Amino acid sequence: MITPNLLEAKKRSNKKPTLIDNYDIPNSLKTLGLNKKYYVRTYGCQMNEHDGENIKAILEQMSYTETLVMEKADLILLNTCAIRENAQDKVFGMIGRIKHLKESRPEVVAGICGCMAQEEEVVNTILKKYKWLDIVFGTHNINNLPNIINNSIIKNSLEVEVYSIEGDIIENIPTKRQSNYKAWINIMFGCDKFCTYCIVPYTRGKQRSRLPEYIIKEAEDLVKDGYQEITLLGQNVNAYGKDLDINYKMENLLEAVAKTNINRIRFVTSHPWDFSDEMIEIMKKYKNIMPSIHLPLQSGSNRILKLMGRRYTKEDYLILYNKIKEALPYSSITTDIIVGFPNETKEDFEETIDLVNKCKFDGAFSFIFSPRIGTPAAKMEDNVSSEEKSERLQVLQALVNNYVIENNSKYIDKIVPVLIEDFSRKDKSILIGYTDTMKLVKIKANEDIIGTIQNVKITAYNAHNLDGIIVK
Ligand code: 5AD
Ligand code: SF4
Repeated sequence: MITPNLLEAKKRSNKKPTLIDNYDIPNSLKTLGLNKKYYVRTYGCQMNEHDGENIKAILEQMSYTETLVMEKADLILLNTCAIRENAQDKVFGMIGRIKHLKESRPEVVAGICGCMAQEEEVVNTILKKYKWLDIVFGTHNINNLPNIINNSIIKNSLEVEVYSIEGDIIENIPTKRQSNYKAWINIMFGCDKFCTYCIVPYTRGKQRSRLPEYIIKEAEDLVKDGYQEITLLGQNVNAYGKDLDINYKMENLLEAVAKTNINRIRFVTSHPWDFSDEMIEIMKKYKNIMPSIHLPLQSGSNRILKLMGRRYTKEDYLILYNKIKEALPYSSITTDIIVGFPNETKEDFEETIDLVNKCKFDGAFSFIFSPRIGTPAAKMEDNVSSEEKSERLQVLQALVNNYVIENNSKYIDKIVPVLIEDFSRKDKSILIGYTDTMKLVKIKANEDIIGTIQNVKITAYNAHNLDGIIVK
């Protein structure tokens, strides 16, 4: 049993990550899942979604087949998120449901993985209260999944394998992609920013950039397979390459991926601190880099930004924002904002409102601060009531909504490129897709255009999406 350790997870050394590119499954385990079904449920960010794609592909190499109905599965994995308490609560709720299932079918193998599995506190709770689970494995152990499952079956006991190390880079893990048109590519793992509220540097380890040649090869293969869009993923993608021994930065990577001629490139998430002028230049130069940027602000108060350890002021943020808008006037900019950080005053909150009024974002994910055990912010004194925090969130969301509507209204009668992705969940006669600026569009059209980029004239809008018609 290898359990997580918070103190270890916090450490950073100068040691370079080991590159492991001979991933393989032992022959004896390639048939372990024969005639068995798996159910994988993923929570949280795109990075986790992509991990879920790796996990599914590994299970299929072990001969398991997928079911979307948990009750029919022989193997159940919850790929979890630890970013806020409510994400964790959902998982504990599901663990309760699995307990019932195991009462009638004890042979079912069930476990958790992902960011919650990396938390010392969570694993201690599992060891005390949920011992009947079969496996717990961390974000650094996905490649060892076949052995972990096998050991649990052989020993018929809870198998915990969670390394609290800085992490290696494992190449050539297979992927079962969710879409045939859009793909995620991890360009780096981990984060070294240690924003004081954030659990990610502890759950995902030290920043490790993948070597450019592996990323470019993955992008080229996706082009060959007919993919239209690639999203480059990392917790802090602008810092890409800073940990490599070669002089190769995010702007170099963006340019190289643009040259593969994939139709659309996106990247998330950007930290304002590392967003370089060179990146903006490359975005301007290559039309296949989409003019849509997610730029988390977190707070508009310099006092709070400092307490958060964000390394920029609201003035720095505005300068960067204006630079991007000047170079790419058509671009859309979205953000993340936390309200109710410990001891956030009314004045601090008003400053956030002021920044939102200045930036008129195209969208914002906003959250009430959630203390994460082990992070510095969780220990900060906090005298703001939860009612006050909820009220601030509502005020902020209403304001953001107004700007989303205002921005969306500007699309009326414009013709914009839309990658048509799927049917609308609610109405099969409607197709959905995203503009280059990442606006959701609903279109009444025939399904044979799914997977293609079409010119769409925008005819209506609301706070959630645009409506449009195909123009030839
Ligand atoms: N509480 C609330 N929101 C958080 N985020 C990260 N950590 C916390 C926390 N402890 C938000 C940030 C980040 C987004 C992914 O989640 O806004 O950008
Ligand atoms: Fe968390 Fe900050 Fe790293 Fe983003 S940059 S993952 S908010 S520590």
